[in-house]
Amino acid sequence: MVSFKSLLVAALATAAYAAPTCQVNNVPVPPKTGGAKELEDPAANLILKKIALGYGIQNYTCADNVAGTEAKATGAVAVLYDVTNFYPGTAKTGLPQKIWDNLPETVLRFAPYPLNRLSGSTYGADPITAFPKAKDISLPAGGPTIIKFLGHHYFDINSIPMFDLNSIGLKASVVKKEGVDAPKDAYKGTLGTGAVAWLHLIDSGKGLSQGLSVVYRVITAGGVARACSIAGKGVQSVPYTTYYYFY
Ligand SMILES: *[C@@H]1O[C@H](CO)[C@@H](O)[C@H](O)[C@H]1NC(C)=O
Repeated sequence: MVSFKSLLVAALATAAYAAPTCQVNNVPVPPKTGGAKELEDPAANLILKKIALGYGIQNYTCADNVAGTEAKATGAVAVLYDVTNFYPGTAKTGLPQKIWDNLPETVLRFAPYPLNRLSGSTYGADPITAFPKAKDISLPAGGPTIIKFLGHHYFDINSIPMFDLNSIGLKASVVKKEGVDAPKDAYKGTLGTGAVAWLHLIDSGKGLSQGLSVVYRVITAGGVARACSIAGKGVQSVPYTTYYYFY
């Protein structure tokens, strides 16, 4: 079996040769899906603060196990890792475009589940202490050796999505502004259900954000619910990864 480590060794070995050594004005921009409708570009006055790789679960509830019952999205829990310096074209640390584009899939397929597991479940997170102690994702030597812990994503007590970049003191409490389908060839996840939509999120207006006002979710992998007829009645948690661009 191809291990996470060996894939990354290969990726990073390539990176050393393929990364452009000099690039001016390499301001990262959220990518496009290539679909009929795209997310709006970030406003010109916004400043990119961080790019995170999020790894966790999307939660759904099925009111019933009858075919055709819609799984309702109810929340998400994820650990955020800092990938800002791996953005293609970044001097010295930038990854080749293809490796960057595939990193959410690579992490979802090969990196260990990042949450404290709900005992007895495969993908469920512990409801009391979902987050283990802050921990980086380890990469092999020969390039950047780690993807550093950045913070947490969860839904607050009012079910409002929160991004708490607690390692650098930034927060985003957000609501959805718009969403578009992930590209057809996006990685469908470990359950094969599909990649969740790409989103443009904006400040919730609750006064809970700190230093952030806009978030883009792009290059999603996995996270789509299983059919209620298969998952059964109640809560289901589906693993996913994605990039979050924070402004
Ligand atoms: C998501 O589901 C897990 C169980 O897998 C639960 O522990 C967690 O509290 C839920 N969180 C949200 C925001 O729905």
